[in-house]
Amino acid sequence: MKQIPPDHPHNFWRQANMHCLYCTGAYDQANSSALFKIHRSWLFFPWHRAFIYFHERILGKFMGDDTFALPYWSWDTPEGMWFPDIYRKGALNETERDAIHLREPAVDDFDYVDHDLASDVQIADNLAFMYHQMISGAKKTELFMGCKLRSGVEGWCDGPGTIEAAPHNTLHSWVGNRYNPERENMGAFYSAARDEVFYAHHSNIDRMWTVWKKLHGNKPEFVDQEWLESEFTFYDENVRLRRIKVRDVLNIDKLRYQYEDIDMPWLAARP
Ligand code: C2O
Repeated sequence: MKQIPPDHPHNFWRQANMHCLYCTGAYDQANSSALFKIHRSWLFFPWHRAFIYFHERILGKFMGDDTFALPYWSWDTPEGMWFPDIYRKGALNETERDAIHLREPAVDDFDYVDHDLASDVQIADNLAFMYHQMISGAKKTELFMGCKLRSGVEGWCDGPGTIEAAPHNTLHSWVGNRYNPERENMGAFYSAARDEVFYAHHSNIDRMWTVWKKLHGNKPEFVDQEWLESEFTFYDENVRLRRIKVRDVLNIDKLRYQYEDIDMPWLAARP
């Protein structure tokens, strides 16, 4: 994807720029001058699912493997609380990361502060934090999914869901290079998807959505038409421009992927 011409929609940097294109207020909503935004609102989970879905299909096409699935970085589990090794190697390696954090024994930035704890203590802290973000602090749908970005309403619905606020945002900055002005690459919206680990990070974000939904009896998140009918466009693996709606991405069986059931000790990590 890095080698094909820059004007081809499958080019890696163009893929990365899709994230920038939607994220920074570049677009207004249809028929209105209100901002279209995919962060800090209820569009966060669905848009990012659609983005990594097409990215995965494109990768599978290049590999000639229709069953290819992106890996997820399971930072919610003790085994996953390290920077994942495969992203330090070969084409997945990236220079614009924080060298100090990447040497640390356990992911220590669910709150933007370096605590320098022993790794077992840090892990216990992280698990309790996950319990809060997924369970006790996310009982109501909007608390988890983000605020309702209403169509045509000027101003700013500015309420990220629990997981979006952290570990999503915090790990973005934790990975990014501290000597860059906005901790690029991972630390800034415009550059985050240039780091391959972005896609593993977001696969886990997406997995957290499926876990939360299951804990809530797989009920529909929202029934608001303006959420269900919100639409985005992406190039698919056959370079066709596709229009996809929030309602199209709510059931991952229809998208033909699944997450392996793994142990989640945070489920019992009530502080
Ligand atoms: Cu669009 Cu991880 O952010």
